[in-house]
Amino acid sequence: MAAIQINNVEKSYRTLKALNGVSLSIEEGEFFGLLGPNGAGKTTLISIIAGLNRADSGNVTIQGHDVVSDYRKARQLLGVVPQELVFDPFFTVRETLRMQSGYYGLKNNDAWIDEVMHNLDLTNKADANMRALSGGMKRRVLVAQALVHKPPVIVLDEPTAGVDVELRQTLWKFISRLNREGHTVVLTTHYLEEAQALCNRVAMLKGGQVVALDTTSTLIKRISGSQLVVKLATGSLPDELKELVSHPEELAFGNKYTLRVNDYNDVEPILAKLRQAGVTIEDMQLQQADLEDVFIQIMEGEK
Ligand SMILES: Nc1ncnc2c1ncn2[C@@H]1O[C@H](COP(=O)(O)OP(=O)(O)OP(=O)(O)O)[C@@H](O)[C@H]1O
Ligand SMILES: [Mg+2]
Repeated sequence: MAAIQINNVEKSYRTLKALNGVSLSIEEGEFFGLLGPNGAGKTTLISIIAGLNRADSGNVTIQGHDVVSDYRKARQLLGVVPQELVFDPFFTVRETLRMQSGYYGLKNNDAWIDEVMHNLDLTNKADANMRALSGGMKRRVLVAQALVHKPPVIVLDEPTAGVDVELRQTLWKFISRLNREGHTVVLTTHYLEEAQALCNRVAMLKGGQVVALDTTSTLIKRISGSQLVVKLATGSLPDELKELVSHPEELAFGNKYTLRVNDYNDVEPILAKLRQAGVTIEDMQLQQADLEDVFIQIMEGEK
């Protein structure tokens, strides 16, 4: 049975179609990435999964339990870290987590609360008021809140937005451990290198529709070849090579260009053209395309 089954979900806000027929089946034990540009519909989908928002049509089940008709059970199975920071400023971190436990009917949950706080590096803030915490600290508490009832299915909506490197590492270590122990994890992030490192499978949303769905490694292999990164010491990129640039902002920005190549045989003609144009190369690297390149290609509409 799927951890999360999403069947043909549609959602409109007035005339805007935020979700236009999304179907996804996320299996138990997966570390699944839900990616897409701003406004793609990720948070809308997550709020429907969490039962906080109603789909216009279609349905969602968590381990077989419908998020609308079987809300109580579905809610128990799910922990959601919301994108927006919401909290009660007058409670301490520990009180917040105890209240959240109470909300799930859990008593004597302190051992797990302590473990969660320890793993998110929150222990020394346990008695601090929520309003006294920095933004990154508040986000840690949001993560902790989603985990108080040890939900088998964990959904994180941009948990690392505005979070420092150290916490990101702490957070991913903990979430990866929970995933290894059998928890299903669904992650939304704009840090594609995080998604690439963590997610075994990825769905890309654009304009409320799934435009790509595959294992992370297959997506990277299938969609693009390698890349030749050249940094120029003198001269500028000849026009005939500009169509190979895979990050458009590089054309405006500077002297470093990432050029798409299908295989090693493409490299020599590129170097010849640079030589003919009188360009000298300062640095050069051949690298495998990554998830960010795939994302850019898909979002530009080319395959
Ligand atoms: N409550 C709302 N009322 C009206 N429009 C909304 C509402 N919530 C979301 N939208 C619109 O629905 C679309 C999808 O928004 P959503 O928040 O799901 O995107 P997202 O993929 O999470 O984006 P981001 O990466 O910026 O978080 C956007 O065009 C947004 O403006
Ligand atoms: Mg969002």
